Amino acid sequence: MNWLLNILCILNFLISCTKAQQEYSANSVLNCNNKYETNYSCNGRNSTCQAFLIFRARNPYNSVPGIAALMSSNISEIARINNVTRLTFFTPEREVIIPVSCSCSGLYYQAKTMYYIPAPIETYFMIANGTYQGLSTCNALQRQNIYDEFNLRPGLELQVPLRCACPTAKQAAKGSKYLMTYSIDVGDDILKISKRFNVSVKHIVEANGFLNENPLLFPFTTILIPLPSEPSNLDTGNENYTKPVKSFSPPPAANFSRGKSKRNLYIVSGVATGFFLLLLVVFWVILLVFFKKRASEVPCEDILVEIANIDHVPKVFKFKELKHATLNFGSKNQIKGSVYRGVLKGEILAVKKAITDISKEVNMLHKINHFNVIKLCGYCEHKGSFFLVFEYMKNGSLREWLTKTKSRDTISWKKRIQIALDVANGLHYLHCFTNPGYIHKNINSRNILLDSNFRAKIANFSLAKETDTSGTTRKVVGTTGYMAPEYLETGSVTSKMDIYAFGVVLLELVTGKDAVIVEEGGETLLSVAVAAVMEGENAETVLDGFIEAHMREDDDLEIAFPVASLSLRCLTREPSNRPSMEEMVSCLLKIQVNVHKTEQPVRIETMDIGGV
Ligand SMILES: *[C@@H]1O[C@H](CO)[C@@H](O)[C@H](O)[C@H]1NC(C)=O
Ligand SMILES: *[C@@H]1O[C@H](CO)[C@@H](O)[C@H](O)[C@H]1NC(C)=O
Ligand SMILES: *[C@@H]1O[C@H](CO)[C@@H](O)[C@H](O)[C@H]1NC(C)=O
Repeated sequence: MNWLLNILCILNFLISCTKAQQEYSANSVLNCNNKYETNYSCNGRNSTCQAFLIFRARNPYNSVPGIAALMSSNISEIARINNVTRLTFFTPEREVIIPVSCSCSGLYYQAKTMYYIPAPIETYFMIANGTYQGLSTCNALQRQNIYDEFNLRPGLELQVPLRCACPTAKQAAKGSKYLMTYSIDVGDDILKISKRFNVSVKHIVEANGFLNENPLLFPFTTILIPLPSEPSNLDTGNENYTKPVKSFSPPPAANFSRGKSKRNLYIVSGVATGFFLLLLVVFWVILLVFFKKRASEVPCEDILVEIANIDHVPKVFKFKELKHATLNFGSKNQIKGSVYRGVLKGEILAVKKAITDISKEVNMLHKINHFNVIKLCGYCEHKGSFFLVFEYMKNGSLREWLTKTKSRDTISWKKRIQIALDVANGLHYLHCFTNPGYIHKNINSRNILLDSNFRAKIANFSLAKETDTSGTTRKVVGTTGYMAPEYLETGSVTSKMDIYAFGVVLLELVTGKDAVIVEEGGETLLSVAVAAVMEGENAETVLDGFIEAHMREDDDLEIAFPVASLSLRCLTREPSNRPSMEEMVSCLLKIQVNVHKTEQPVRIETMDIGGV
């Protein structure tokens, strides 16, 4: 079979040679399992050339230095061609022209760049489609990197081949000097794109081997746009172009406010932001003197605001401020218990009243900076009462969401697995990447909060302990249904107790049920009930019946069963037999890949051997 495919590929290559153009790969590039080469054939007049890419500015890749580093492009060149300064921050979704050097590597063109994995939750698909916006593909990434999908770890360096091409002799004869790789956006069609870049529809159709002038285009796949000259500043270059609705341009200063940039944080975890802000610090230090003299050109303080974010130094609030922000701790602003919603300087925050001394929690949280751990913005002491101010989590606790939401669409597997991964990543970070390491000691679905994008963050660190002070305690405190047997029996405190509790949270995500099931006959622990189900006869069918009705679906078991099995490993009685959080992250990633596969939309079966 393989030799046949090879022959077809070579045939395809020869045919595209004679046709002197590239074939649009349609949505086959979104399928990470297909074996076809996704880069453009090396069929141009020159084997090396200057090429251009269009990249949409998105946090944290929204500044000239940040984008240059991501794309291995030249800062000065990006600044020149986009007619901006070297330190410009772009408004979200602003299209940025990236000059790259394109060259043949074997039979295919590519522009080479490097990517350091910043966070533990990345997959090849996320890197290709999310970070690189379709300018690279998961196939190409898999082919050029030795790492297995499930061994992608923070800090690894990946080779990223970006899609580019050089004009063919025919195109050059027709006056096209450069090819620009453009990633299709939702709502794009050839006519719009042709107007946008002032290139004839005919040229675009020819360059991509389209059969007609209105071909089916798939978002996040690329097309080539032949250009007679260097592209110039997109925002001012063409009056005919009306910006798509979703591209908005707030006044430049607004773009730098903490609130705005925070909204985009879900794209890449906070770790990535930190990394790039660090890069910015370097630029800032070098250029500070320079820009002090020319402060009117680049808003210097705004860069400082971004840099201040790295530290996450919690602010000390005045009691008056908090009182005002929460409308005097009024019932209208009460979220739950002693937690209030407050608006401080236009930003929504959560204010938590604490009875006990909070210094331990404050000292701990200000050292912790992870996307999956709730961010402490500040605190306040007033006449013996203490207040903690946190980022506001719009969708409340995981428990509330599982209980309240009754629509099957909202509680999708995609969301549930993402939440599991978020918690696993947060715990992995707490256990292994902080110094000292921490044990949360009170992981449960009420202490896992969901932001506006249903991304999960671990909250309530009032019981947390440093790993090196772990040992045994006589005072057993925690939440019923989540406490590990060794902790209940001997007071033994290790990170394995968080893993046990995480196992229970996983079961809640599978079944929708609470950790303690209250029935007429009394109380049953969810962990005990599910273990009985899984060990009994017809486990799959019984498990299906056990899942709450509002969460049940026909193909549920394909995912429910493996997740339930995974959680039982966390619930193993012997602590040393429980998996580490690192192992959990990697298992959940595998499950996530399957979820995405089953949810993948249209697939074109002909794929790119269509040319034959
Ligand atoms: C590309 O090839 C043509 C013809 O072979 C040559 O004239 C031109 O200088 C080359 N361009 C570059 C950038 O090498
Ligand atoms: C690809 O990335 C875009 C954002 O750039 C996202 O909206 C889209 O859902 C992603 N595609 C898939 C299949 O996840
Ligand atoms: C668009 O391209 C044509 C040549 O194809 C050129 O004459 C015209 O000036 C261009 N318009 C703009 C606004 O760049």
